[in-house]
Amino acid sequence: MGSHNDGGAVLRGRRILLVDDEADTLDACTQILRKDGYQVETAVSAREAIQLQRSRPFDLTITDLKMPQVDGLELLKAIKRVDPEMAVVMITGYATVETAVASMKEGAYDYIPKPFTPDELRLVVRNALERQELVGENTDLRERLSGGRDQLLVGDSGAMQRVHQLIARVAETDSTVLILGETGTGKELVARAIHTGSLRASAALITVNCAAIPSDLLESELFGHERGAFTGAIRRKRGSFELAHRGSLFLDEVGALSPALQAKLLRALQEGEVRPVGSEHGIRLDVRIIAATNRDLAEATRQGAFRDDLFYRLNVVPIHVPPLRERKEDIPPLADHFIAQFRRKLPTPVRGMAPAALDLLVSYDWPGNVRELEHAIERAIILAEGEVLDWESFAHLLPSPAGVPGARAGSTRTRRPVTDARDFTDLPSLEKVERDYIMEVLQATRWNRKRASEILGISTVTLWRKVQGERPES
Ligand SMILES: Nc1ncnc2c1ncn2[C@@H]1O[C@H](COP(=O)(O)OP(=O)(O)OP(=O)(O)O)[C@@H](O)[C@H]1O
Ligand SMILES: [Mg+2]
Repeated sequence: MGSHNDGGAVLRGRRILLVDDEADTLDACTQILRKDGYQVETAVSAREAIQLQRSRPFDLTITDLKMPQVDGLELLKAIKRVDPEMAVVMITGYATVETAVASMKEGAYDYIPKPFTPDELRLVVRNALERQELVGENTDLRERLSGGRDQLLVGDSGAMQRVHQLIARVAETDSTVLILGETGTGKELVARAIHTGSLRASAALITVNCAAIPSDLLESELFGHERGAFTGAIRRKRGSFELAHRGSLFLDEVGALSPALQAKLLRALQEGEVRPVGSEHGIRLDVRIIAATNRDLAEATRQGAFRDDLFYRLNVVPIHVPPLRERKEDIPPLADHFIAQFRRKLPTPVRGMAPAALDLLVSYDWPGNVRELEHAIERAIILAEGEVLDWESFAHLLPSPAGVPGARAGSTRTRRPVTDARDFTDLPSLEKVERDYIMEVLQATRWNRKRASEILGISTVTLWRKVQGERPES
């Protein structure tokens, strides 16, 4: 193990996305990299790659430059829009060195000309990941300013895959989208993903929260006003529609619009132009509308609280973001994501989560959805003292102190006091306890051997020796 790649031990478990339309290249590279301990996922087209990248974090993308439909260069640009810090390595044929240079200008980390040897691949991957480590430590502030990875729409459940597919499909169009879902499900992230994935990405995404602005101010906020339109209007103000020209306008909480504003919005959508308050003339604008609401708008329409003609105008492509309790598979990757996110923001010893803690998170119903999960993890990290969040960190989520899920049968955490044992045959050997605990930590860290070894206080080599033969469950 590792004789050709000693310095790479710390990089084991890093997540690599491989993109190539040729299955043979994909297979060969996957084998080489998996053998070195990386987690590898593959995509046969740029489109599939973008979808994967939106749904979970990767440390490195390796893509073939020449692919039918969307090529590697376009993929590179799309990736950089979603995650500017992502390391991308291009695989180039002999004839495409020129394009390789172009891709370096677009922010690719490096390129490997075909054909390449396994060792050449390993070297490029290692360099890219090592540099990525350094970048990761330095981009904290920039990421916080720009959104960066924090805007990833994490989740790979069937329900979220459908959401990702819809996002990809509508991003290419100018269709009006209505995003529906309970509070905290990620509607705003979906709106951003649509905009950043669209051809309008280089123009602005303007957000107006229709519930947060008093309705007498909302009209001029949306449509702007002329100088002198009302007392206090000392200069002309451009409305959100105008600011979003060529870009997208996100109307958040659209269900909160007053009847008068519903009528004005409907007119603006029908006519493709807006009239600033106090103006004689309309302004023609090119704006893509994305609306969201956590209300049942169809029901509000039936009850007459929301205009049905406006509802149909907005509801061209509805995207339902399901509540978290209906996609519990997303909880572990979301928990990982939030831990990683907070680790980039605040100094903390926390590196992972105990299985019992994760069990608790999965069993909870999350009325506040992803936002509530995000806050629960933030709270746990701030209060944590050790490296691993235990179930106690989330005990406040439990209805009562009884029936705590920490007491799982068979867990090494629930060893009975030794004095209870009549015959000692049910007591495990030290070796078994050690092995169980190692597996517990490995599972908690999603088989990230670097993190696991740090938690266990042993070297990765020792860890590797102790778990020879064990494999991730999935
Ligand atoms: N799939 C996800 N992956 C990562 N973070 C997410 C995801 N879904 C939601 N979040 C995070 O959860 C929080 C709430 O998400 P968001 O603001 O998009 O919800 P919302 O549906 O707009 O809620 P509300 O109806 O209350 O406005 C944000 O901090 C967001 O970054
Ligand atoms: Mg919102």
